[in-house]
Amino acid sequence: MRGRMAQDAKRDFWNKIAGRYAARPLRDVPAYEAMLADLAAQLRPTDRVLEIGCGTGGVAIRLAPGVAEWTATDFSPEMVAIARAKPAGDKVRFVVADTVQALDGGPFDAICAFNILHLVDDLPGTLAHIHTNLTPEGLLISKTWCLADLPLWLRALYPALRIVKLFPAASMLRLGQLRRAFVDAGFEIEAERIFGARPQNPYVVARKMTMPVD
Ligand SMILES: C[S@@+](CC[C@H](N)C(=O)[O-])C[C@H]1O[C@@H](n2cnc3c(N)ncnc32)[C@H](O)[C@@H]1O
Repeated sequence: MRGRMAQDAKRDFWNKIAGRYAARPLRDVPAYEAMLADLAAQLRPTDRVLEIGCGTGGVAIRLAPGVAEWTATDFSPEMVAIARAKPAGDKVRFVVADTVQALDGGPFDAICAFNILHLVDDLPGTLAHIHTNLTPEGLLISKTWCLADLPLWLRALYPALRIVKLFPAASMLRLGQLRRAFVDAGFEIEAERIFGARPQNPYVVARKMTMPVD
């Protein structure tokens, strides 16, 4: 019950800021374009892709034409409504679903998780669920805020920003913890890159490792 109330409060936060989130200009367009180019190069035309926490759908709309199908999911109906209102091709489908419900449609060849893994309640559980719902050697492609690696003065602002509802509930992850969480869930990290000026927001390409069958 308490878990559901906490989830509802989180969804309310994102519903309330969806309009502002959609209106904000991209901070670093060349970095965003470089990330999209790398992501496009990881995907194949036959891939079934799932995106969790898709927000207002920018990545899905740009990259869905290059794959077989792209299911873009978010637990905020307001975010999804904004995404659905944008012109998009016939390969992308926007669905209101939390990370658990979204994975039910697996297996997927690739799962994208941009700026969401630091927001989930149970990172190891979410990564295990993602692993289960990837095809053998499928890819998890993510960008995650490692908030504990931010400078102290910025971290010190976080509790106040949360109180005035300018910042969501989030895990204070370090990059080392994030890497370990991927490996512990059965992924091999194939690439780790920083797009833009924030080393605390790494882009990670991780491949599902499968146990050899005797
Ligand atoms: C920081 S925004 C990132 C949006 C987009 N991926 C991007 O990078 O711009 C986080 C998004 O995750 C969604 N979200 C947060 N927790 C979620 C959960 N447990 N299940 C599904 N979506 C969630 C929010 O509604 C929001 O749209």
